Amino acid sequence: MDRSIEIAVNGTRHAFAVDDRRSLLDVLRSDLGITSPKYGCGLAQCGACTVLVDGAPARSCVLRAAKADGAAVTTLEGLADAATGALHPVQQGFVEAAGAQCGYCLNGMIMSALALLSANPDPREDDVRSALRHNLCRCGTHAEIVASVMRAAELMREAAGNPARDDAAPAERAAVVSKAREGAPA
Ligand code: FES
Ligand code: FES
Repeated sequence: MDRSIEIAVNGTRHAFAVDDRRSLLDVLRSDLGITSPKYGCGLAQCGACTVLVDGAPARSCVLRAAKADGAAVTTLEGLADAATGALHPVQQGFVEAAGAQCGYCLNGMIMSALALLSANPDPREDDVRSALRHNLCRCGTHAEIVASVMRAAELMREAAGNPARDDAAPAERAAVVSKAREGAPA
């Protein structure tokens, strides 16, 4: 059965009728042309489809679009500065700390990281691992991803005029990557 819904995606409102059974991921990709959320497992297991719904991470593959009626949805497309094209600090953090290999998991990782950093601008490594525990990287680049989020936290604090929390942050980030390169469990 079709249902009339209205959602705001990256600040633009969309009103349309949608079959009750369709996922938000399907609607975003097929109807709205928003392709940053990826189809990985379709079973809420991998996080590749993660978007923010009213600021909270959501697995759009299992969230019915009708359930998002009235919500504000944020996807990766909404992060960079629309006027200048400048990357969002979270994106920049992933660039600087080489958080991607194939990149398929990346967009969902970034959205989960953004939710974390919006709530906790000063995370420790364990906070990052916990926040991203439902986002899987098949390439196994999890250590660099954690380092990327920690770098993103620094960049977000700098952008907010609240620079690095202490001198240990860059060292902690470097230690995460170095541990991974030595083959220690990430
Ligand atoms: S595609 Fe949604 S969690 Fe894997
Ligand atoms: S970089 Fe390939 S799945 Fe994560």
